[in-house]
Amino acid sequence: MLHHARCTDDAESEMKLRSLLFVPGDSERKFIKALGCGADALILDLEDAVAPTQKEMARAQVAAWLSENNASNCALFVRINPLDTGMTTADLSAVVKPGLNGLLIPKANGAHDVAAIAEQLNTLEVEKGMAHGTVKIAVVATETPLAMFHLGSYTPPHSRLIALTWGAEDLAAAIGATANKEPDGSWTFPYQVARTQCLFAASAAGIAPIETLYADFRDVSGLERDCRRSRRDGFTGRLAIHPDQIETINVCFAPSPEDIVEAQMIVDAFAAQPDVGTLGLNGKMYDIPHLKAARKTLTAAGVTK
Ligand code: COA
Ligand code: MG
Repeated sequence: MLHHARCTDDAESEMKLRSLLFVPGDSERKFIKALGCGADALILDLEDAVAPTQKEMARAQVAAWLSENNASNCALFVRINPLDTGMTTADLSAVVKPGLNGLLIPKANGAHDVAAIAEQLNTLEVEKGMAHGTVKIAVVATETPLAMFHLGSYTPPHSRLIALTWGAEDLAAAIGATANKEPDGSWTFPYQVARTQCLFAASAAGIAPIETLYADFRDVSGLERDCRRSRRDGFTGRLAIHPDQIETINVCFAPSPEDIVEAQMIVDAFAAQPDVGTLGLNGKMYDIPHLKAARKTLTAAGVTK
């Protein structure tokens, strides 16, 4: 019997996606651990964390977890196998069921892959007695060279599409790179491009840009530094691979108390002068982009009005 633990205490209608923890689909021990770690979402993995011989078992296991955790307050995603593996249909028929909040599509080549999955979801939701549109879609948008030319295709977004994230490992393997990091740990140029294009593609579509994982899960201060950079650049959440990364990610991607105070000040100032497009506050200039950013901050902080 599994615990019906709550991953977060916040009940919100819109899915909060600061931290998304990968859990290998063949490890019940990790699943139980993951439920209590405070992640906003778990990504139950059927793809690369699961050996080919264990796929069948993982599928059945993940399906069982979803049923048992129907009441979980933590969003449950499943990373299915890529469309060209021939495993997708079996993955979907096993895991599309009440309890599933979303799918993560790996190695997607563009919006047509989202449409193909969505089509199957339309049928499966009816079969499983789920409301149409229940299962959302997030995409790993930079894992193939071809995908790099289709990032604009996510706009306008499919109604199920809520987030784009990116990955450097599969892309590097696909192009035959011998490394994707500089000696100082920063991304080499091709992966900076992938990261940046993912950020722009998600922003253009008006959906969440999710930073890729930080592989060195023992390096908490490195993770924190990197998360601050990601948040500064506009990412709104991050993939995680280890429970020890969750707290850092949640803190870094939540607006700080100072951010919230400043955002509220900006929103209030513009509300007080509805015909003004630029104003000065405490010696700083604020215009419409600042107002939009302030509204986003308040939304992220769960402040309405
Ligand atoms: N989800 C849930 N629990 C996890 C976890 C995860 N992603 N990663 C580690 N844990 C658990 C371990 O099971 C262990 O629990 P225990 O004390 O009950 O045995 C505890 O956290 C400490 O783990 P630790 O010993 O520090 O790490 P590890 O060597 O067991 O595992 C990894 C290291 C990388 C194998 C593991 O973190 C992992 O599986 N990560 C996810 C991998 C993945 O899904 N990749 C696909 C996307 S790239
Ligand atoms: Mg991968």
